[in-house]
Amino acid sequence: MITLRIDDQKIEVAEGTNLLHACLANDIYIPNLCYIEGMKHPPVSCRLCFVEIEGRDHPVSSCSVWVGEALVVHTDTPTVRQLQKTALQLLLSVHDVDCKNCPANRNCALQEMAKFLKVALKSKSFGRLLKETRIDERHPFLEYYPNRCVLCGKCVYVCRQHQNRVGLTFAKRGIDTVVSFYGRPHTEPPPCDSCQACVEVCPVAALLAKY
Ligand code: SF4
Ligand code: SF4
Ligand code: FES
Repeated sequence: MITLRIDDQKIEVAEGTNLLHACLANDIYIPNLCYIEGMKHPPVSCRLCFVEIEGRDHPVSSCSVWVGEALVVHTDTPTVRQLQKTALQLLLSVHDVDCKNCPANRNCALQEMAKFLKVALKSKSFGRLLKETRIDERHPFLEYYPNRCVLCGKCVYVCRQHQNRVGLTFAKRGIDTVVSFYGRPHTEPPPCDSCQACVEVCPVAALLAKY
């Protein structure tokens, strides 16, 4: 076992434990969106889960650290909080904040993080850039809301785990990036048995079951 000091707590973890997981499992909340417990290769894409580790020059994404030695970790420094606020504000700047009409209302990762970090969900100082496509309804069992999607990739990951093939994937680039239902060629029906794992894992109700 390896001893970590995280803020004011001493925590024993097995070698190879994921640092973000170790914090969350010990009730030390770190904002996060793209990590799922058990991932061997987290995408490290949301850039929310920063911590500072003594002896390291820069803050690091905690989901990308596998504990191999004793560490002293700080989760609540001004630098960490500023990085997290900026990452969240960027996500919100391309997000259609319409909580009243959203199935995720009161059970939403963005709301939870905004409250925790004291970031306004709707800020006048940030413009909002939304995608033209409002809803993709081509899938037989699913609806996709591009302007709610935070591109965390959890749906893509659980679909691959469940089916061991590509049922969901990312398509397009940059601001236009979306989750796409169809593998190639697009004329074939998607490989989907309607397990709903993607709907359940989505932190913001961007994927919904049709029935
Ligand atoms: S996903 Fe969350 S923040 Fe976005 S509209 Fe829905 S409830 Fe509001
Ligand atoms: S649809 Fe949901 S789970 Fe999938 S990438 Fe978008 S926000 Fe994440
Ligand atoms: S949870 Fe670590 S970068 Fe997203």
